[in-house]
Amino acid sequence: MSHKNTTLSLKDYNTFGLDVLAKNLIFLKDLEQLKEIEDIKECFFIGGGSNILLTKDLDKTVIVNQTSGITIISEDDDYVELAIASGENWHNLVLHCIEMGYGGIENMSLIPGSVGAAPMQNIGAYGKEIKDVLTYVDAVDIQTLKTIRFTNAECQFGYRESIFKKEAKGKYFIAEVGLKLTKRYHKTNTSYGDIEAWLQERCFTEPTIRDVSNAVIAIRKSKLPDPSDLGNSGSFFKNPIIGKSHFETLKDKFPTIKSYPIDENNVKVPAGWLIESLGWKGKRVGNTGSHAKQALVLVNYGNAQGSEVYQLAKDIQQSVWDTYQISLDMEVNVI
Ligand code: EPU
Repeated sequence: MSHKNTTLSLKDYNTFGLDVLAKNLIFLKDLEQLKEIEDIKECFFIGGGSNILLTKDLDKTVIVNQTSGITIISEDDDYVELAIASGENWHNLVLHCIEMGYGGIENMSLIPGSVGAAPMQNIGAYGKEIKDVLTYVDAVDIQTLKTIRFTNAECQFGYRESIFKKEAKGKYFIAEVGLKLTKRYHKTNTSYGDIEAWLQERCFTEPTIRDVSNAVIAIRKSKLPDPSDLGNSGSFFKNPIIGKSHFETLKDKFPTIKSYPIDENNVKVPAGWLIESLGWKGKRVGNTGSHAKQALVLVNYGNAQGSEVYQLAKDIQQSVWDTYQISLDMEVNVI
């Protein structure tokens, strides 16, 4: 039985399902509301809560972003540009676009979280990233409450990286995102092995954006736990990038290790492989563990504390370091 004040619990606002308390909770419905919030600089913003690990109660006002709206800014026969309020759910946006026949984000079906959080870590899956279609991010400067527009280049996107995780961290509230999508001649990307296999099995020789979305949904459902059944935050770690010579040394010792090319000096190693190879996959530690079907995903079996999940993450990092001398970076923001 919980002694916690359920009205201030953040359990329903983070996909790990961690039961920590906020000092105060505000549901943001429109941007005007920002002007009325006292001491906004001290507040903590939550979007879909899909990329945070809450390890303690927050002695802060928590603002849950529930802004909404998807509008067309411009369109011609080939393209449409949409302005999307940051509080919209990402997957609902993907489904809306497929319904309307707009292509470009179908590979990113079923990624949990809000539209506002998507550019922050440049979400991506199955060969596409949001940076491939994003035109701008409108962000409210929390000091001045003025809205500043960041172009795609100004967002400084990288692999699960953007300016909002670096020098702009904590300074802005992402309010709106612009995306340019195709209305015809969609450039579907089905090169990712799992997608290709799924489509081939069903004889889809010229897959539509809906077919690709259905493939992605099926693949994700088969590997990644649904946060409403089993709390999680998707991939907990990033796939590390290491030097080729380091990789060659490891390959001699561990012949089954995998890699993907990055550039002439570096390769990316699947963190899931590293973690699985050390016996963590499917292993339960107290109320947490590495998921049985995807080692890179840490889960909450029901009553985990954020600190337990964090400890497991640190233990995994240490064991990967001890064996492979590779440092795993957390993709999730630990609070
Ligand atoms: N692998 C294992 N064991 C595992 C999991 C993976 O050996 O338990 C190895 C396999 O060799 C597999 C390879 O890792 O072929 C890649 O696995 P997978 O296709 O599942 O993708 P991932 O690299 O683990 C990344 C993203 C996911 C994204 C998928 C598909 C990161 C950190 N994660 O995972 O994104 O959905 O590719 O594009 O880049 C997320 O960021 O939260 C996320 C779920």
